[in-house]
Amino acid sequence: MPESRFEIQICLGSSCFSRGNKNLVKIIQEYLKKNHIDDKVVFKGSRCMGYCSEGPNLVINGKIIKGINAAEAEAILDRELQNIK
Ligand code: FES
Repeated sequence: MPESRFEIQICLGSSCFSRGNKNLVKIIQEYLKKNHIDDKVVFKGSRCMGYCSEGPNLVINGKIIKGINAAEAEAILDRELQNIK
């Protein structure tokens, strides 16, 4: 039976990494574990997405989300992953 997979790509390009994605990696990993969805979401790094000046950036299920800060990360994940829970 086909299963839809959720996917989060985090930009690990040098600009996004230094603007905050270094911390977001940990925040997202903890979020997925805390919500028991780490086995349902493919979480992986990506190269520069070409929007460096607007970073740090993520792509969740094909949708690019720019300028994420640590304080709002959980709310974004709640919103974007609401169908998974
Ligand atoms: S480094 Fe992330 S978009 Fe370029």
